[in-house]
Amino acid sequence: MKLIGPFKQIIPMTGLPTKGAITDNQLEIVADGGILVEGDRIKTIGKFDDLVKVTSLNDTEIHELKGDHTCLPGFIDAHTHICFSGSRANDYAMRNSGKTYMEISKAGGGIWDTVTQTRKASQETLTKGIVKRAKRHLANGVTTIEVKSGYGLSVAEELKMLYAIKDADELLPVDLVSTCLAAHMVPRDFEGSPAEYLEQITRELLPTLKAEKLTNRIDAFIEEGAFYPLLIEPYFNKAKELGFDITVHADQFSTGGSEVAIRYNAISADHLEASTDIEIKLLAKSNVIATALPGASIGLGCNFTPARKILDAGGALAIASDHNPGSAPMGDLLTQAAILGTFQKLSNAEVLAGITTRAAAALNLTDRGRLSSGCLADLSIFHTADYKEILYNQGNFKPCMVWKKGALAYNK
Ligand code: NIG
Ligand code: FE
Repeated sequence: MKLIGPFKQIIPMTGLPTKGAITDNQLEIVADGGILVEGDRIKTIGKFDDLVKVTSLNDTEIHELKGDHTCLPGFIDAHTHICFSGSRANDYAMRNSGKTYMEISKAGGGIWDTVTQTRKASQETLTKGIVKRAKRHLANGVTTIEVKSGYGLSVAEELKMLYAIKDADELLPVDLVSTCLAAHMVPRDFEGSPAEYLEQITRELLPTLKAEKLTNRIDAFIEEGAFYPLLIEPYFNKAKELGFDITVHADQFSTGGSEVAIRYNAISADHLEASTDIEIKLLAKSNVIATALPGASIGLGCNFTPARKILDAGGALAIASDHNPGSAPMGDLLTQAAILGTFQKLSNAEVLAGITTRAAAALNLTDRGRLSSGCLADLSIFHTADYKEILYNQGNFKPCMVWKKGALAYNK
């Protein structure tokens, strides 16, 4: 066993409502605490001095921290596209000179540009890229990362991406949760209609994903220029029939996607920058987690997801980085979540829940996102006596230490 501490504050993120607004007063704070770890799990959280007494007779290693420290659950980034090759720095420059994301995409740039680069890369090269990016996320306190395919856009190339994600997962302390986003856009080189493309991936890709245990999650980009709601139905019907979890890129530029997410009982609807009061109300009534992606708003220079309204309507809000080469190149969850909090007037508790417990729910994971007995010992540790310093520094204050499954995974 290991005893880690003492911490000035442990913020376990337990006992919070799964939906709706949360005030900072609702956050439980364990002062002068310690965390007892057995294997990869948390055994007990309590006063450090009490835990020292209880454990002094056993063979417990004590990892004593000098100075003031605060401990949070390891962060969970529930939406990324970190499996890719190439750069879209030109897109970024063009957007900042006045071209829109959709104009660039229609002219053959955008997602298609990354598809071209990603298809040229070997599985091994893709794995290396994921490992490099995931290590940076780990140093920022992220211990679980969702990673989508979606830059392959053919059966073989989507499989290559998902194998690369699987290989990277085996090389990293961080857990990668993969998602198939073969329905990202209609590939430009597909000879047939959008419906025929979806038919092909329904027939040839979905069963292989199951057979090879490559992913349990199916995503689609529902948008003008990508897939219309009606078009996606047969694909989602088959995915549901096969037992996949559904998640949707919804309401990014126009509405329609969140309604599909609700109808298919999706785990999450992500983006929602264009959601109006109607969609917000329907989402809040549903069990779908609303995932805000401030990195895409910052990358594209457009509106933030109406996070305040979603919470006030009673919705569940997760916050993810959307790290991708196009719309969200920054890839810094903590910075983006803090900035979203500033612009959307979110409490510390709401932002932190969005990247811990509510992010775990967005990935259907019950063993992380909070610090309690039986949960994974995934810890994000900051050199401060007050947890409020973390978001106050708007991402410029990084963890000094990160533990993953009971092992020290990053030490500054
Ligand atoms: O979540 N909106 C669609 N897909 C990604 C962007 C992908 C890209 O631009 O490469 C997103 O923002
Ligand atoms: Fe995305």
